[in-house]
Amino acid sequence: MQNFSFYNPTKLHFGKGQLDKLQEELKHYGTNILLVYGGGSIKRNGLYEQVTTILEKENKQVFELSGVEPNPRVTTARKGIEICKTENIDFILAVGGGSTIDCTKAIAVGAKSEADIWDIVTKKAHATGALPFGTVLTLAATGSEMNPGSVITNWETNEKHGWGSPYSFPAFSILNPDFTKTVPKDQTVYGMVDIMSHALEHYFHHEENTLLQDRMVEGILQTIVETAPKLLEDLENETHRATVLYNGTMALNGMVNMGYQGDWATHNLEHAVSAVHDIPHGGGLAILFPNWMEYAIDENIARFKQFAIRVFNVDPDGKSDKEVGLEGISKLREFWNSIDAPSRLADYDIGEDSIEDMADKTVIAKPEFGNFKKLTRDDAVAIYKASL
Ligand code: NZQ
Ligand code: ZN
Repeated sequence: MQNFSFYNPTKLHFGKGQLDKLQEELKHYGTNILLVYGGGSIKRNGLYEQVTTILEKENKQVFELSGVEPNPRVTTARKGIEICKTENIDFILAVGGGSTIDCTKAIAVGAKSEADIWDIVTKKAHATGALPFGTVLTLAATGSEMNPGSVITNWETNEKHGWGSPYSFPAFSILNPDFTKTVPKDQTVYGMVDIMSHALEHYFHHEENTLLQDRMVEGILQTIVETAPKLLEDLENETHRATVLYNGTMALNGMVNMGYQGDWATHNLEHAVSAVHDIPHGGGLAILFPNWMEYAIDENIARFKQFAIRVFNVDPDGKSDKEVGLEGISKLREFWNSIDAPSRLADYDIGEDSIEDMADKTVIAKPEFGNFKKLTRDDAVAIYKASL
């Protein structure tokens, strides 16, 4: 285990009725509020009404930015930044999934910066501060509700990049499993794949003595494997929604990955696919992760063996370590197939003709990526080919 310093200032309000905490939280901030949300799901399920009633009770002057896209665009973030600057916004409230929250982070940082937000996303400029912001989460997936990360797409250049800053932690996040009950089946599946993928990104590392961390990460994977079929049978089940919601936050709030560096190549590969084809993040991960695992297994067969035995109860008797590891990868594939996650790029009509373009996008930030196994552009081409 490496030395580490842990810091996470986001206050979490989890559970039924926790929207009541919004009123209390809002008292800490000024009058001008920018309410940020997506394409309208919060209007259809009544959450918009509940949130705006609370804002009114607190006598807030509310400005709105709606229509944040899944895979949020830098152009939308710029619109929000403009509103913040011209209307002297004091506080931003994001109500939605990871895309709405990620866009809000870009707005919050962009509003306190001279640089264009795309220069901050692409690390040509640094964040120098942020407006305070809070979130009401409606989809279990990204962990954005309790981390400083944000992923923004530039549709003009077909680039999608993750960025973060010390200023982009939400001040608070409200997580009521009730608000996730209306998430449709496909998005529910993508969310669970994303949560498992965050756990998998953590799991493949070379650090020694991460006994507790391994068990926590395996715990997230096993909990989703156990809960997913039950939730998909009964999408409005509050207990299962709560389990998945808590898992999503824990998978990417820094708690289970202290003292080591996970891989993260598959996220880079997926962001490149989304940048060109605008597919859902979790759908892309379901296609790419098993193929990355097969590509990377020789890097540390013992880790893949441990994954297979502990997460999918593979029986190692009479098998080589590599056979056990490969069986674990097959079990992961089978599980994702069983919940109707996509498994081939062809599921999104992505063919061989776009591989070179996507591979170019994987190396825009750096010529090599991935910490467990270093990958180059050629490796990206090979993994995309295996995913066709
Ligand atoms: O836009 P609305 O109308 O709200 O509909 C959304 C959207 O169409 C819908 N939805 C959300 N909550 C709902 C609901 N529909 C019905 N009922 C509800 N309660 O679901 C669709 C997808 O929403 P989105 O926010 O795009 O999904 P998600 O939370 O999966 O976010 C994906 C984005 O996050 C990035 C991804 O790359 C992608 O851009 N990521 C962010 C990370 C982070 N900040 O830490 C890490 C992740 O690895 C990921 O890369
Ligand atoms: Zn992810």
